Amino acid sequence: MGLDRAASVDDLRLRAKRRIPRFAFDLVDGGAENERNMRRNSEAFEEVELTPRYMVDVSKIDTRSSVLGQTFDAPFGMAPIGMLNAFWPGADLMLAQLCKAQNIPYVASSAASTTLETLAEAADGNGWFQLYVSSDPDVTEGLLARAEAAGYGTLMVTADVPAAGKRDRDIRNQLAVPFRFTPEVIMQCAMNPRWALTSLKHGAPNVANYADLLQSATSYADVQKTLITPGFTWDDLKHLRARWKGQLLVKGVLHAKDADMCADLGCDGIVVSNHGGRQVAFGPPTVEALPAIAKAVAGRMAIILDSGIRRGADMLRAKALGADFAFTGRALAYGVGAGGEVGAQRAFDILHLELVRALGQLGAVSLDGVGPTYLSKFKDA
Ligand code: FNR
Repeated sequence: MGLDRAASVDDLRLRAKRRIPRFAFDLVDGGAENERNMRRNSEAFEEVELTPRYMVDVSKIDTRSSVLGQTFDAPFGMAPIGMLNAFWPGADLMLAQLCKAQNIPYVASSAASTTLETLAEAADGNGWFQLYVSSDPDVTEGLLARAEAAGYGTLMVTADVPAAGKRDRDIRNQLAVPFRFTPEVIMQCAMNPRWALTSLKHGAPNVANYADLLQSATSYADVQKTLITPGFTWDDLKHLRARWKGQLLVKGVLHAKDADMCADLGCDGIVVSNHGGRQVAFGPPTVEALPAIAKAVAGRMAIILDSGIRRGADMLRAKALGADFAFTGRALAYGVGAGGEVGAQRAFDILHLELVRALGQLGAVSLDGVGPTYLSKFKDA
C-alpha cells in the first residue's frame, strides 16, 4: 500500500512493518511480556463513548491547545522515544522538525539516538527534555546541566522505570549489548534493502547522550545502570524540584495518590502514562486510571495523557475524562517507519484531520468545549 492510501495510523504501522527488519520493528512495536497492557490501552480507548450534540455551528474549528503556559496548534505532542534511529535512520530529527513545523511539543528522550543539543536546535523552542534518573548522580546532574544550557524550559522526569521492562519480543529476537550481527539479523536486513542501505549511510545508532560513558558497555546491565536506577524516590523528586528552575513534569503516573503527591511537591504537571504498555503487563490502561487522577489533582497542575492514542478522537476521549493535553509515541513513529519525513507528516495529518472531523461531529468548535458532559456514561449530564 502506498503512503497516500494509508487511511489510519494502523495502516502506517503495517507499511512500516513491511519496510523494517523484524528485530528493529519489534523494538518499537512491542510491549511488556504478553503485551496485555499494550492491547488494553487501545481497547480501553474504544470503550470510551462520546455522544455527539447536533445543530451547533461547527464551520470554524480551532485545534489550538494550551498547556504549561504555551499554546500549541494541536492538543498532542511527540512523546520521548529512545533509540528511535534504529527503527528508521534519522527518525529523531525528522520528528523534532515535524513538531517545530506543526507547532506541537517534541520531547527529546535521555535515551535518544541524537544528542539533546541537536534536538533542541531542531525543535527550536518546541522541545522539552525527558530525564531518566541514573544510578550515578553525576550522570543525572550532567544531563540536567546540558539540558539547561541547551535551552530546554520543561523537564519531564520518568518515574515508571524502576526496572527495565521485560519485552518478550526483544528476548526472542536475541537483542544484546553490544549489538550482534547474527545470521538471522543479516537475513532480515537483506530482506529490507532500503532500511539496510539507509542505516549503512547513517552509521549504527547509539544512545547519543551517553555515547562516551557507554563506549565500554559490554552488557545490557551496564547500559541499564547508567540510564536508570531502582533507587529513585520521592526525596529525589523533591531535590529535583528544587534543582530544576523550569517547569517540571513527572511521567508515568497511574495512581491518584502519586498524582496528589506530585501536586503537593510543586510539580507543574504529570503525564498519565504506562509507557505505551512497555513496562508491566498487569497495569491499567491510562484512560481507566485518568478519572481518579483528575479528581485528585483538581486543577492544581497540568494533566497530560499518553499510551495507546491512535485516533484523533482518542484525544477527545482523554480530554472528556480530565486530561489537558495528550502525547503519542508510536503513532508518529510508525509514520516515519512508513515513509521517512513524508510518512511522519502523513501520520500528523491523519491524526489532525481525524481530530478536526471528530470535533465537528461532536458539536464542539474547540478543545476548550470538550468535557465530561460528552461522555455517554456521564451520570450528571
Ligand atoms: C518509549 N517511551 C519512553 N519513555 C520515556 O520516558 N523515555 C524513553 O526513552 C522512552 N523510550 C521509548 C521507546 C519506545 C520504542 C517506545 C515505543 C516508547 C514511552 C513513550 O514516551 C510513551 O509513553 C509511549 O510511547 C506512549 O504510548 P504509545 O503512544 O506509543 O502507545
